[in-house]
Amino acid sequence: MSAIALAPGLTYHPDYLDRAAQERLLEAVREVTRAAPLFSPRMPRTGKAFSVRMTNCGPLGWVSDVNGYRYQPTHPETGKPWPTMPDQVLKAWKDLSDYPQPPDACLINFYEPSARMGLHQDKDEEEFGAPVVSLSLGDTGLFRYGGLDRKDPTRSIKLKSGDAVVFGGPSRLIFHGVDRITPGTSDLLQQGGRLNLTLRKVRSGL
Ligand code: SIN
Ligand code: MN
Repeated sequence: MSAIALAPGLTYHPDYLDRAAQERLLEAVREVTRAAPLFSPRMPRTGKAFSVRMTNCGPLGWVSDVNGYRYQPTHPETGKPWPTMPDQVLKAWKDLSDYPQPPDACLINFYEPSARMGLHQDKDEEEFGAPVVSLSLGDTGLFRYGGLDRKDPTRSIKLKSGDAVVFGGPSRLIFHGVDRITPGTSDLLQQGGRLNLTLRKVRSGL
């Protein structure tokens, strides 16, 4: 299906990945998690665990703990460098971003059926000229997006397995989050749940 503009700079690509591509990407994610296991990030200050578990691939990975949010080149538990980004992820960036350089971070979020993600902005990157490209696999997630102010009105769309969203330009810093996952909406992941990959360009000028 063709792209749908949700707002200036915010584009929804339903069914961007067909079933075979979803299966290939899932296998690539599994390979990443074998080298870089999912970890439970914690909120800065409070130390409260997120309901989402995470890992990363690419030169830099996003982590959060009592010391704050940041990007770092190594896994917080194993201390090893993040695995390289799968070719399919790099291809999605080429297809969907209008940015000349490759991404240097790919955050992989895993949502159990009860997990959610509160409204936030992606603003730990240096390079806001590059969009964020999001790919969803598995159960449908209710994605909420608003404006540049937390108090701006929000809308929601259901992101299903294979959907992509790009937020760039005037929407690069919009507030967004995931209110809930709907169990049983996809049979891609045998145990259920949802995976979301967000591709970002963190460092500018490299
Ligand atoms: C995120 O904002 O990091 C994830 C968004 C999503 O899971 O769709
Ligand atoms: Mn985000």
